[in-house]
Amino acid sequence: MAVLAHEMLGLKSSEDVVLARQLVRKWAVDMGFTLVDQTKIVTAASELARNTVLHGGGGTLRIESLNDQDRRGLRLVFEDQGPGIPDVERALRDGFSTGTGLGLGLGGARRLSNDFAIQSRPGEGTRVHFIRWRS
Ligand SMILES: Nc1ncnc2c1ncn2[C@@H]1O[C@H](COP(=O)(O)OP(=O)(O)OP(=O)(O)O)[C@@H](O)[C@H]1O
Ligand SMILES: [Mg+2]
Repeated sequence: MAVLAHEMLGLKSSEDVVLARQLVRKWAVDMGFTLVDQTKIVTAASELARNTVLHGGGGTLRIESLNDQDRRGLRLVFEDQGPGIPDVERALRDGFSTGTGLGLGLGGARRLSNDFAIQSRPGEGTRVHFIRWRS
């Protein structure tokens, strides 16, 4: 699997979450994703960026276009050096939140993906990978 192009964005504030949505939409449009897929990708990006800012204390987003055999994909990597997630399976469950949210963001983002992974260590931070392949 090859990364064809990439772009980084800092995520510190809710304004950055808006910028992340706009930038991710632009990549999805430029890569030729359908309108339905664009909406799925932007919705997931929005939730994950919000988590990076709210729960992770800020971090970064790396947007990558991928080439694997004959298919193209968009990968989003969210990284922070925040408190981490002690129990990732529990955090993915709908309705689980340590904050005031509904606890739907993480599980929702996973359902909108084709490939999803969370790496997290308490005290060291969190990295979330989201991939959507072009249909
Ligand atoms: N980057 C992160 N760093 C630390 N904890 C996180 C991170 N992302 C998610 N979490 C933990 O996982 C929980 C579930 O996340 P999820 O996005 O599903 O719900 P939420 O953000 O609490 O509410 P919402 O429905 O508004 O998104 C969070 O409450 C938080 O405890
Ligand atoms: Mg959330």
